[in-house]
Amino acid sequence: MPKRTPFVGGNWKMNLDGARSRALAEATAAHAAAHRGAEVCVFPPFVYIPGVAAARGASLVGGQDCSAEKEGAFTGQVSAAMLVDAGCSQVLIGHSERRHGLGETDAVLSKKLSRALEAGLCPVVCVGETLAEREAGRAHDVIRTQLRGTLGGHALDAARLVIAYEPVWAIGTGRTASADDAAEAHRTVRQTLADLYDVRFAESVRVIYGGSVNAKNAAELFAREEIDGGLVGGASLVAADFATIVAAAARRVQ
Ligand code: 13P
Repeated sequence: MPKRTPFVGGNWKMNLDGARSRALAEATAAHAAAHRGAEVCVFPPFVYIPGVAAARGASLVGGQDCSAEKEGAFTGQVSAAMLVDAGCSQVLIGHSERRHGLGETDAVLSKKLSRALEAGLCPVVCVGETLAEREAGRAHDVIRTQLRGTLGGHALDAARLVIAYEPVWAIGTGRTASADDAAEAHRTVRQTLADLYDVRFAESVRVIYGGSVNAKNAAELFAREEIDGGLVGGASLVAADFATIVAAAARRVQ
């Protein structure tokens, strides 16, 4: 099996201010430097990206979203090329707060993925079911449909792609998926990637878990062979907690 470098993302969402984002970037850079076995990436609000990029040290910086369009009359949007220009190497595509919060469809997200790839960004593509979908026994169908709809038809480099499995019911709720449920969902992600591409591709892509990851549960989640790291919201805003989570991911390669 190909060796996969753990990946930990800190999705800051719409939090912090300029000074606090730079301070958190510096603290996170120190954790990244101390745990070089893992890739660590922060996703600040757009306006703080240049300040965070200047303070990023060993950590990566990504955008929380990019436009589906290349450039032009799209008020309020930020292009993939602008993210690169501001210092980003990664971008989140299809976070549930955009899929469900803003009604972004797989077709729109597929266009966003095109723009990200053209600009040379590494995409972190998010998928995950709602509580109603899980209770209806449709979680794995939803994961497959979202992956096919967003990734299908794109030429992708497995080493530059991360898939984040984020069940909507676990995001910001304090209700984490069990390690067993997360691992099972990650196997569905890999099986779908194997169907879309091939087994080697599927085994090379990092698949990470998001949804109420914290300093207490990270080690148990990351101990599972299927779970290559995490996409962390609330706990990424607390430097000490994020440090513990990064350390837990880095232990996968020791
Ligand atoms: P929480 O860690 O706050 O549940 O958020 C998860 C998330 O949405 C990361 O992208």
